[in-house]
Amino acid sequence: MEIWTPQSWRSKPILQQPNYQDAAKVTAVEEELSKLPPLVFAGEIRELHRQLGEVAQGKAFLLQGGDCAETFAEFNANKIRDTFQVLLQMAVVMTFAGGSPVVKIGRMAGQFAKPRSSDLETIGDISLPSYRGDIINGNEFTSAARIPDPERMIKAYHQSSSTLNLLRAFAQGGFADLHKVHRWNLGFVKNSPLGERYQHLSDQIGQALTFMEACGVNSNTTPQIRSTSLFTSHEALLLGYEEALTRKDSINDEWYNCSAHMIWIGDRTRQVDHAHVEFLRGVKNPIGIKVGPTTSSEDLIKLLDILNPENLPGRITLIARMGAKQITEKLPPLVQLVKREGRSVVWSSDPMHGNTITASSGYKTRSVDAILEEIKGFFHVHSAEGTHAGGVHLEMTGHNVTECIGGAYQITEEGLADRYDTFCDPRLNGEQALELAFLIADTLKSARGL
Ligand code: PEP
Ligand code: CO
Repeated sequence: MEIWTPQSWRSKPILQQPNYQDAAKVTAVEEELSKLPPLVFAGEIRELHRQLGEVAQGKAFLLQGGDCAETFAEFNANKIRDTFQVLLQMAVVMTFAGGSPVVKIGRMAGQFAKPRSSDLETIGDISLPSYRGDIINGNEFTSAARIPDPERMIKAYHQSSSTLNLLRAFAQGGFADLHKVHRWNLGFVKNSPLGERYQHLSDQIGQALTFMEACGVNSNTTPQIRSTSLFTSHEALLLGYEEALTRKDSINDEWYNCSAHMIWIGDRTRQVDHAHVEFLRGVKNPIGIKVGPTTSSEDLIKLLDILNPENLPGRITLIARMGAKQITEKLPPLVQLVKREGRSVVWSSDPMHGNTITASSGYKTRSVDAILEEIKGFFHVHSAEGTHAGGVHLEMTGHNVTECIGGAYQITEEGLADRYDTFCDPRLNGEQALELAFLIADTLKSARGL
């Protein structure tokens, strides 16, 4: 294999990149970015690698979630707090009711660039370049907004940095203290049947903490009671940005992409001889690979050969996004293959991207039923194959949005218009996400014979 460098992807074919008009400006921005501090540190990346190794071995569960795309307009502290809070709630449900340690990763602090199915968007008789995420161009349907602007990379970097700062503060500064589980119940969730179920669970946790304290186990002896860790992730799509934040670690001389702890490769950019695979093979971060209905066995093994030649547990997370209708047919051959070949991977389920539909009103949506069905199918396949259903990958928000239909509040197609805020794909709201967490907890529990 040829020598890898942070730039070696530049000589390969590449898909899903913007057509910047001024190449010199792009280079100047990338140079500026390459001098800015890393967003995460190599030691943290190694710790996530270790924890995902535990997931690969069936000892823990991965919860990965957040926006489809972060935006500049919707950047504020409450939004970050609410998503963090729902992730905490879900993790506590899975840990307490499901009996499994949970590794939490946000689709946050860098999830900006979006692959698109078409280069152009047409409304009436006007066609403009598609919106590719705030790190590239603007969402408004005007020719000025749709021109890719490299300066947006700098803005995305600073937004990621502030987001991470707040996440670290929430994780370490007392917000995530298990004594506060009651308070994580968001207003609109509290009044739903799930809110009640959550309340009951937090009462039980409160009792357990009191018991443990009486036995001498408290936040001083066990800091995990008062703090937690949340790792960050995004799709490594805009490679100029990713390259600029790739740094050599002074401890082991290896390259790490310090824009996030984990990065993944999308379903549209996983060609084995293309730039994205080339870039990712050389960085030591844990890597996700989206696995869709068109992923062939041959390509999957090639990807594992290229991206994880040493077969290290925790290096690769295969994120299946087959769609509810296809999961039980398309997933088993791939699971069998990976098992037969003795490859160590985390199998995770993205029940979102294979279940996107267009409602009659024109809104892009997903039904909670289809999402639940895909997750159930995913667990079913792994239980039949004797492999570990290792995690879930969700598009979700703490806010009370109406983007996916169904759930305890029974959002209807007509109701979508109420609070449809996403620029990109429809997300689960806090209550729908919690519903899913309980389903997963029940499944984990029965898989463990509890
Ligand atoms: C995504 O995760 O936002 C995404 C675009 O997914 P996929 O590559 O699986 O379509
Ligand atoms: Co999406």
